[in-house]
Amino acid sequence: MFEVIEKEMIVPNLHLLTVRAPEIVEEIQPGQFVIVRSDDTAERIPLSVSDWNPPEGTLTIIFMEVGASTGKLASLKPGDSIPTVVGPLGRPTEIDKFGTVVCIGGCYGIGSIFPTIKALKKKGNKIVTILEARSRNLLYWEEKMAPLSKHLFCISRDGSTGHKGHVKNSVEILKQNKIIPDRIIANGCTFLIYKSSKDLADFNVPIIVSLNPIMIDGTGMCGVCRVTVDGKMRFACVDGPDFDGRLIDWEELLKRRKQYVNEEAFLVHNSGCGGI
Ligand code: FES
Repeated sequence: MFEVIEKEMIVPNLHLLTVRAPEIVEEIQPGQFVIVRSDDTAERIPLSVSDWNPPEGTLTIIFMEVGASTGKLASLKPGDSIPTVVGPLGRPTEIDKFGTVVCIGGCYGIGSIFPTIKALKKKGNKIVTILEARSRNLLYWEEKMAPLSKHLFCISRDGSTGHKGHVKNSVEILKQNKIIPDRIIANGCTFLIYKSSKDLADFNVPIIVSLNPIMIDGTGMCGVCRVTVDGKMRFACVDGPDFDGRLIDWEELLKRRKQYVNEEAFLVHNSGCGGI
C-alpha cells in the first residue's frame, strides 16, 4: 500500500497528491509517469509526475478531476493509502544542452513540465517558460518556475495574467521579445499540445509534446495507447509519452481519446462525484 502524505486542491479542479513510493523515486526521471488506482476495483489512471523528494521517498502528482476515477483520487486524505502506484513508466524526456528551450505548460501540464525545466536548466539551457490558463486563478507554481526561467510569460483567455489569448499568442510574445527557440516542449491537455504543435510549427524546431492517450497496462501489452507518429504505429506508454508534435496524426488521436466519453458520463452520473 502507498501512504498518502498530502492531498490538496491547488486551484479549482486541479489536485496535488503526494504519496510515499521510495522505490519509484529512486529511479524516476523527468517526463516519466506512473499508473495509479485509488482502490482495488478502480480504473488504472496514467498520471505524469510533477516532483519528487528522494530523502523522503515521496512523489507528487498533479491531476485534474474529470470523472469517476479521478473523483475517487480527489477524495483521498493524508493518512489514507492506495493499493497501486506503478512506475516509473515511459521514456524520460530527452535532456541535453539545446540552447534556448521554450517550455509550455497548461493545466496539469504546468506541474509535469516542472521536472523537465529543472533538468534542462541544470544542463545549461536558457529556459523560456510559458504558462497558459483560462484565468489567473487557475495558474499555480509560478514561484517555482520563475527562478529557473530567463523569461516567464503567463497567457490567459481573459487577460488577467497580462497576456490575453491562447497558446497561439506565444508566437507573437516570443517574436516581440526576440526569442528564437532551439526546441519547444509542451505539456498539458491534448488540445493545448495539439495547438502548440500547429501554432508554433513555423519556428521549424522540434516541438516535443507529452501525449496522454487512454492507457490500460502502461507496458506495451494492450495496444490501447496506440498513436501514429510519422506514419508509423507507436505505443505512447513505451515509445513515448514524448513525441515530436509535428509528426503526430492528431485527427486519429483526438478521435481515440473520445471513445469512452459516454461510459465515463454514465459512471460520473452514478458515482455521485464531481463531473466532466
Ligand atoms: Fe497498453 Fe500502452 S497502455 S500498450
